[in-house]
Amino acid sequence: MRKILAPSLLSADLAFLHRDIKMLNESESDWFHIDIMDSSFVPNISFGSLFVKHVKKYAKKPLDVHLMILQPEKYIEQYKNSGADHLHIHYEACIHLNRTISAIKKCDMKVGVAINPHTPIFLLKDVIKDIDFVLLMSVNPGYSGQKFIRQTYQKLEETKDLILKKNSSTLIEVDGGINLENASVLFNNGADILVSGTTIFSSSFPKKIIHKMKFCNDF
Ligand code: DX5
Ligand code: ZN
Repeated sequence: MRKILAPSLLSADLAFLHRDIKMLNESESDWFHIDIMDSSFVPNISFGSLFVKHVKKYAKKPLDVHLMILQPEKYIEQYKNSGADHLHIHYEACIHLNRTISAIKKCDMKVGVAINPHTPIFLLKDVIKDIDFVLLMSVNPGYSGQKFIRQTYQKLEETKDLILKKNSSTLIEVDGGINLENASVLFNNGADILVSGTTIFSSSFPKKIIHKMKFCNDF
């Protein structure tokens, strides 16, 4: 368990993006999570690689880029060139998952595989040793501000079991609907990384929320 926190810029105030990036640089958060949506894989459009490139100019922490797009293999180099440090692709969006994972590694980025709430974790058994992160979606991807799906707790247990069984060092990241209450439960139950948007950016004191999410609810 690492307790890494990755605030999602989807909930930042885009008119004051530089201010929000600066706040995250000064905070105790660890990574910048950037949600890329194409309106085909998910019913919404957000950012593209140009956005990542601009964030990269000011962000002093790794960029954790979550591709919620079809045919992600077409855009690997583009995101590498924009400054992505980690690239997450969706299991449901990849026909040749093994090949896409290799292509991301070849571009010298860390690779994560994201799975939707309905996708069982055992489907990752043949790739788990090849990936740096499993990204468990705890909401249906596409929007910020949704309610945490409680079934994720069970999924977390199953993911830990799979990682243990395969003797893998893959880290577990959970994304969607994370608040101060479930953050401590998830961290204390083996999540290594949490992504949070609304809870952090809707607060007037985001740095305090970040601190609390990371440290205040330790056992
Ligand atoms: C959902 C995104 C999440 C989202 C998290 O499609 O992948 O990263 O921005 O936002 P909250 O914390 O508001 O659920
Ligand atoms: Zn995300």
